[in-house]
Amino acid sequence: MLKLKHLIMSLGCLLLIIACNSSHPKINFHTKLLKVATDPTFIPFEIRNTSGKLVGFDIDLMNAIAKVAGFTVQFESMPFDGMISTLQAQKVDAAINGITITAERLKTISFSRPYFKAGLAIAVREDNQDIKDFNSLKGKKIAVQIGSTGADFAKTIPHAKIITFNSGPDFFQDLLNGNVDAVISDAFATLYAIKNSNFKGIKVVTNLLTEEYYGIATPKNSPHLDTINNAIATLLANNTYKQIYQKWFNSEPPQLPDSLPQN
Ligand code: ARG
Repeated sequence: MLKLKHLIMSLGCLLLIIACNSSHPKINFHTKLLKVATDPTFIPFEIRNTSGKLVGFDIDLMNAIAKVAGFTVQFESMPFDGMISTLQAQKVDAAINGITITAERLKTISFSRPYFKAGLAIAVREDNQDIKDFNSLKGKKIAVQIGSTGADFAKTIPHAKIITFNSGPDFFQDLLNGNVDAVISDAFATLYAIKNSNFKGIKVVTNLLTEEYYGIATPKNSPHLDTINNAIATLLANNTYKQIYQKWFNSEPPQLPDSLPQN
């Protein structure tokens, strides 16, 4: 009899514990779960810190968008090169990855309004004197990331030998080792890597090669685009965007256009 009483009491406790736990669910089921792809090798936009946590400008911005829009974000890591086809196949709801809005990409996917002003830069070894601009890249060995706007740009350089890399930062090591003459990649990411990583001995050649804007990519005509665009507008108006920008770049953000020509 005593045993039965104990059993009933323990069962009661167990139920109470379950009930208490479930009143604080990790995911709020009233919000929409948004699967967001990213390739965390693009410092300082998305990287894993020493404890494996995803951090960066894009991560902060996406989380702020989610908060305003009522999404629960679930980041999924994948290589940059496969991101556009993953979006086309609708395996994720969005991708944030310092992805430049281009006419070519707009044929198969959609983009949010621009959220970052960017551009390509040439990086060379500090002692390099002969590479100064586009013309001096002629016939040189140039490293780029597969599938990037840097890779597209490199194709326009006469007689260049283009060497492709799967993930961004590796090419800086090859530049330092003397395996390539120059790297063409996004200016902000390059400058940040030189300043904050182990790539001492690399400099950026002045003047950006291009003017580009990053957008959040989604499958073509995603139903979430309006919500994402409205959230970006809110974050620009209420200073949250500025705070995130200053946290990562220590400077005032430039003006952003509220749209780019979309196909
Ligand atoms: N902005 C460039 C592009 O869209 C490069 C982006 C690279 N991003 C990355 N996570 N590696 O092509």
